[in-house]
Parts: sequence; structure tokens; C-alpha cells
Amino acid sequence: MCGIIGVIGNGPAAPLLVDGLKRLEYRGYDSAGIATIANGKIARRRSEGKIARLEAVLENEPLEGNVGIGHTRWATHGAPTTVNAHPHATDRVAIVHNGIIENFQRLRDELTAAGCRFETDTDTEVVAHLITRNLEDGMPPREATAAALERLEGAFALGILFTGEDGLIIGARRGSPLAIGYGDGEMFLGSDALALAPLTRRIAYLEEGDLVALTRDGAVVHDAAGRVAMREIHLTEQSGAAVGKGNYGHFMLKEIYEQPTVIGDTLSSFYHPVSGDVRLPELPFDLGRLPKITIAACGTAYYAGLIARYWLEKIARVPVDIDIASEFRYRDAPMPEGGLALFISQSGETADTLAALRFCRKQGQHIASLLNVAESTMARESDIVLRTLAGPEIGVCSTKAFTTQLVALACFTLACARARDAISHDEEARLSAARAEVPSRAAEVLNHDERLQELAREIARAETVIYIGRGTGFAIALEGALKLKEISYIHAEGFAAGELKHGPIALVDEGVPVVVIAPSDSLFEKTASNMEEVIARGAHVVFLSDAAGVAALGDRAATVIELPTVDPFVAPILYAIPVQLLAYHVAVIRGTDIDQPRNLAKSVTVE
Ligand code: AGP
Repeated sequence: MCGIIGVIGNGPAAPLLVDGLKRLEYRGYDSAGIATIANGKIARRRSEGKIARLEAVLENEPLEGNVGIGHTRWATHGAPTTVNAHPHATDRVAIVHNGIIENFQRLRDELTAAGCRFETDTDTEVVAHLITRNLEDGMPPREATAAALERLEGAFALGILFTGEDGLIIGARRGSPLAIGYGDGEMFLGSDALALAPLTRRIAYLEEGDLVALTRDGAVVHDAAGRVAMREIHLTEQSGAAVGKGNYGHFMLKEIYEQPTVIGDTLSSFYHPVSGDVRLPELPFDLGRLPKITIAACGTAYYAGLIARYWLEKIARVPVDIDIASEFRYRDAPMPEGGLALFISQSGETADTLAALRFCRKQGQHIASLLNVAESTMARESDIVLRTLAGPEIGVCSTKAFTTQLVALACFTLACARARDAISHDEEARLSAARAEVPSRAAEVLNHDERLQELAREIARAETVIYIGRGTGFAIALEGALKLKEISYIHAEGFAAGELKHGPIALVDEGVPVVVIAPSDSLFEKTASNMEEVIARGAHVVFLSDAAGVAALGDRAATVIELPTVDPFVAPILYAIPVQLLAYHVAVIRGTDIDQPRNLAKSVTVE
């Protein structure tokens, strides 16, 4: 999604703005720009494409001024061109925006009829004109902005400069996150703590409906009701050091290889070092008496939730409802008194998941979130936060966040099972032992990297790839298909293996790659039958299994990837890694922008 940075500095703002935008690149974007107040006037530099192109523009035409705003744009309204790049400006204001103004067309028509001339196809430019008209009517900047925001429907985080004001930035948020940074005689504005970390660790988060006036003296916040409000200053845990790729070609590969370590870190955070018992944060509800758990999430996080449903129902015997957040938020699902709603999100900012959280809050559910970014909107709106300790995940394609979500959910499942007296001590000991060996087993799986690199050469030529599995393997089939399609742009689909005969098998023809997720668990024989069905139709089967599975069926497949033999409980955590590596190597061969794939953003903060 779009990224916002603002600086009221003691020195030139442009270099700080560009550095801040570089830390926002991971969010995904297609154009960038900055604006400053120089000699009381607004000056802008913008470019389509990567920030390096903006730097080239600034090289030729530097920007003066110690106050400025910057933006990385992920296009929602209007093509990703320089003209549509933010900041947008009139003669009185410059503005950057993350979000969607849903009633922008009606406002644009009204403003055009009143004589405003629009330069862009964006929704954002409407806000610049609304504020400008209020300024021309004599309102001071804060009031002019507040009055304009009352006309808007939709989501926004805004940063605004004003002609003649070289010590003022106004920020506002509704639905999209925005943070304030406190420096020494300097003030900052940013989409998240990661962007602000090189400038300051003293961060305060704006709340829904807040409007802030930043000056060198600090921040004056007005809340949604127009009252002056205080927002707590935190010391962010985000490091100021830029997250680098190390010796890896892409953040994604680095993050795949970090998995054994961060899986171990996440597991350790859930277990008492001495007793070995699962330890969760203090819960304001009794895990043993929950009537139901409702899970909502998006994309890869949703697939983690799917796996959690199998575990929670089978092991902890608790009923689970799960849905993709963009559907759940509008389903108006009836929810039981005292139920738990669990939201899974790497960023903690995904708009649809946040909307689902707010719906469940209104339904009186206990709210728990499983998050990788602690300082996020979902964290601030949850009763309980469970953490993955994956560290910053920069690649748009989620990898280590997914496997650490799974280990956290596995721990949560065991805690639920114990609280509900649903498993014996022996069963709990067996599952805990399986959980404990995951980090070392994950390291073993990474040894298959070369085999997967070879396999990638065949898959890279495919027009479509099918993934199949059963039980938790079905969720890994979905995840494997998502990995491939989102970074290699090859069409890929995951199916429940038992569902093939109900239509999807029509896709199978001579040479079509079918990736079969088949640990030797209770469903192995069923999956084996489905594998034979696709082989009979000429499929090129890639068989992911363990020693027992390979011994039984390895000779039937065109390619075999043998994974360590582990308890079926933790198999999906390991089987996620080869499908990540396969997708990565295929994308390398196809030369795509692996860390920032086309059309995608790391954190989807608009619906
Ligand atoms: C996964 O590779 C994608 N980047 C995407 O599906 C992602 O998982 C989804 O947008 C949810 O993001 P979140 O975990 O930050 O909520």
C-alpha cells in the first residue's frame, strides 16, 4: 500500500524524505514523490517507477526547504504515472494520501462545477481542492482541513503542507494508520514505525478520526470529536538500521532461510523454559469455556487460519468458524455470547481483517490477534496479542511470517486442548515433542534447495500449475499456489485432492504439473488415489512426501522431494518451505520483481 513520510527538520528535508520512502518500499509501490516548503512556496519532485528515478530527478533539480512530505504510491485511482504521483498540490496546499476516498467522483463533479481545475485522475486531488477552498474562505489550516475531512467517505491517512507555513504539517487518519515521531527540535510523520525508525524511536500512533498539527514545538492532536487529545509516546522496537538482504539475492530468499531461527524464537516465546508448558499472555477469558472460535484473515494468513481450524477442532475439540476477512466483514454472521474472535495478520494493518475485528468487537466477542508487527492498529484494538517473532518481513511474498504463525497457532492449540481437558498428558507430550523438533527439521528441508532449483526449470515453462492436498495439506496446496502465482505470475491453483473429480481434474492434461502435498498421515492413501487419477491423465507429478510415502509411491511420480518424517501435527509447517523455494526459483528464472511483485503491496490497508 501507499507510504507516507513527513519531516519538520532542522536541516534539508529532501534527503530525510527520500530515506524514509526507501524504508517504505517494502509496502509495494509504482511511483513516488516529495514536496517541500522552500521560501514559503510549495515545490515538488515526482517520478513513476522506483525511488532511484526520483533520486535522479532530485539530482538534476534539488529541493530546498526543511519541511516536507513524501509518498510511495500504490495506484488505486489513475494509472501509475508521474502526473498521478503524490504529492498532489494546488497553489495553497500539497498533500499525500494512503487510502481510498469513496465519494471522490461526486466531490470532483461539485468542485469542477465550482471552477476547480483537476490535473490528475486521482481521488486524492479532491482533498487538496476542498482544503484550498476552505483556506480561500479564510479558515486557518487546521480548521480548513477538518472541514474538508467532514466531506470525505472512505479511508485515509494524510500529510499536508501549506504555502507560507514552513513549520507546519497537518496529518489525519481514518482507516489507514499514521504515526508521529518526536525528534530533538524536529517532528516527523509516517505510515509506520519502520519508516520513522532512522529519525527517532519516540513514536505516538494516531487513533481513528485524529487530526494532528505538527510544529517544531511538538504535536497538537484533536480527536474525532474535535477535542484536544493526548497520544502516548512509545519507544519503538523497530531498529533504525536499514533491514538488508545480507548475501541473498532477494529479501524473500533471506526470509525463507531465516525460518529455522525465527521458528525457534517464536516457539521459545510460547514455552516456559523449565516446565516446558505452553504459556500464553494473561487471558481475560477462560480458554476452557469458549463456545466457539471465529478466525478471519486474508491471503497467506488465512491459510494459516485454515490449518489452525483443523488443529483446534481435532485436538482441542473447540468449534471453529473461519472465513476470508473481506467476506466475513459483510456476512453479518451470528456470534455466540463469550466467543473468541482470532485475527491473523503479519502487518496488523490489513483493512479487511481490521474491519472484521471491529465487527466482532461490536458482537461482544473476545478479541485476540496473532501479529508479527507489535506496534500496529490491530495490536491496539485487541484484548490479547499473540506474537510471531519473525522480525521485519520485507518481501511482499509472506514466508517466515506464515511458518511462525503456524508454530504460534500450534502452541495456542495445545494450550486450548489442555484448558479443555481434551488431550491426555501422553498425547500432549507427543505433540509437544513434535513441536520442539520443528526448527531443526526446517533446517533439513532447506537442504532440498538445489533439487527445487532444478525442478523450477521445468515449472517455469508451465502455463498452469495445480497443487493438491488433504486436511492441513489442502491449506499448504492453497499456499503453494499463492506463492507461485504472486511472484512468478504463472497461473496456479490449489485444490482439496478429494475435490478434483468435481471439476478441477478437467484442467489436467499431458505434462500439466501437479504438486502433491502428501505426508504419510491418515489421509495418505486417499491422496495417493487422487495422484493416480492425475497420472492417468498425463500429469507431471511433483510428489512431496516423507520416507514412508516415497517408499510407497515415489516411483509413480516424475519428481520426488523427500521431507523429514515428522508427526502429522507439524507436517504443514515443514511442507510450506519447499513450495516457497519452488516459487522463488521459478520467479528467478522468469525474471520477475520478486520482493515487490507487480500489482501487489505488502500491507493492504485499503479494501
Ligand atoms: C502472501 O504472500 C501475501 N503477501 C498476502 O496474501 C498476505 O498474506 C495478505 O495480504 C495478508 O497480509 P497480513 O498478514 O499483513 O494481514
